[in-house]
Amino acid sequence: MSLEYITNNHFQTKKLGEFFARFAVFKKTKGKAIIIGLEGNLGTGKTTFIQGFAKGIGIKEKVLSPTFVLLKRFQVSPKSEPIKRASFNFQEFYHIDCYRIENSKEILDLGFKEIISNPKSIVVIEWADKIKKIMPKNTIWIKIDFITETKRKIVIEKI
Ligand SMILES: Nc1ncnc2c1ncn2[C@@H]1O[C@H](COP(=O)(O)OP(=O)(O)OP(=O)(O)O)[C@@H](O)[C@H]1O
Ligand SMILES: [Mg+2]
Repeated sequence: MSLEYITNNHFQTKKLGEFFARFAVFKKTKGKAIIIGLEGNLGTGKTTFIQGFAKGIGIKEKVLSPTFVLLKRFQVSPKSEPIKRASFNFQEFYHIDCYRIENSKEILDLGFKEIISNPKSIVVIEWADKIKKIMPKNTIWIKIDFITETKRKIVIEKI
């Protein structure tokens, strides 16, 4: 099943990320990490969506565009409300941005395989289409398209 949304401003995109995160941690398949791959041109709202997503799983730190960092790791607090309700012991939230990479090896070198094989991981990847060949089968793909300056189409696939 895929879901399609239109957002009219960045607040709505953030809110969608927040709701989606709560759904994802609730729905999670046993024994597997949650992997979310975001596709969409520069400035469509991938980071904005992820800021909402992080809020949705109770991350208090600011999630920034990791321009010069490929990977940023956050601790998931077992005390945050959404995680308490998730009935699963998540530990780490990873924000990866593949914009600057030339090939998948750069991501593999960061221990990508270990990260995605840990069921306690939640991994959200910007420009994930650039590393499609190493993305796992259980990836939830999210595609963001410009409609106008402030309007976006967001398609969440395979949920
Ligand atoms: N409906 C909308 N949803 C999301 N962002 C929007 C929307 N309308 C306008 N914007 C603006 O578009 C920009 C999106 O920036 P953001 O950093 O989230 O994009 P990105 O896809 O992560 O870009 P990059 O490819 O550079 O990482 C922000 O300045 C935001 O305010
Ligand atoms: Mg970004």
